[in-house]
Amino acid sequence: MPPATPQPNVRVVTLRIDGRDVSAREDETILEVCRENRIEVPSLCQLDGLSVWGGCRLCMVELAGQGRLFAACATRVAEGMEVSTNTERLRHYRRLILELLFAERNHVCSVCVSNGHCELQALAQRCGVDHVRLPYRQARYPVDSSHEMFRLDHNRCVLCTRCVRVCDEIEGAHTWDVMGRGSDCLVITDMAQPWGASGTCTSCGKCVQVCPTGALVKQGTSVGEMVKDQHFLPILARRRHLA
Ligand code: FES
Repeated sequence: MPPATPQPNVRVVTLRIDGRDVSAREDETILEVCRENRIEVPSLCQLDGLSVWGGCRLCMVELAGQGRLFAACATRVAEGMEVSTNTERLRHYRRLILELLFAERNHVCSVCVSNGHCELQALAQRCGVDHVRLPYRQARYPVDSSHEMFRLDHNRCVLCTRCVRVCDEIEGAHTWDVMGRGSDCLVITDMAQPWGASGTCTSCGKCVQVCPTGALVKQGTSVGEMVKDQHFLPILARRRHLA
């Protein structure tokens, strides 16, 4: 991502990230500034072109003088801020979050159509999660194959809400939503109708492309075949913004 171009009336601030002095526009988030400066911070629910949700908490960082952790995707930079992105404490919590995600549903990579192209799998590899220390919930959620082009497997959903946001904010259909509470939340189409019976779905497939795991996939794909393409998103978001 190129460095931010200062806009009129937007101040440029200087902050320190992992011991490095960097400058940024004051309307940028810590995550954006980290990416501009090639400082890697794990993220899952955040996706360029969509609104910030701040739900997965994988992008948490430490701020000097603050006891609690902050989601880098949802926290604006400020003058003099001191940010740590890769401490022992952060690595501990990121690993724990990933283990909780794996234990919560049934992410069996070896039989997943997204095997090798899954953001959850890649994050686990990056954060050193080679086993899960927590008991699996062994939850069994339904698979919705009613749509003629796409399939929804709730067992592989991480509730990142990217599908909800892209459908609402980019496609403008608002087919998707979230139903329920806590770990039993499910993404739903229309009023929890089968996807194939949805009267609002345009079959654009944007939800499938932004899904980080094998929860939303194309029909007819087999293990490892489902590769997603999210390049369209910032372009469409920018055009929508300009329209
Ligand atoms: Fe920041 Fe999910 S990427 S909370």
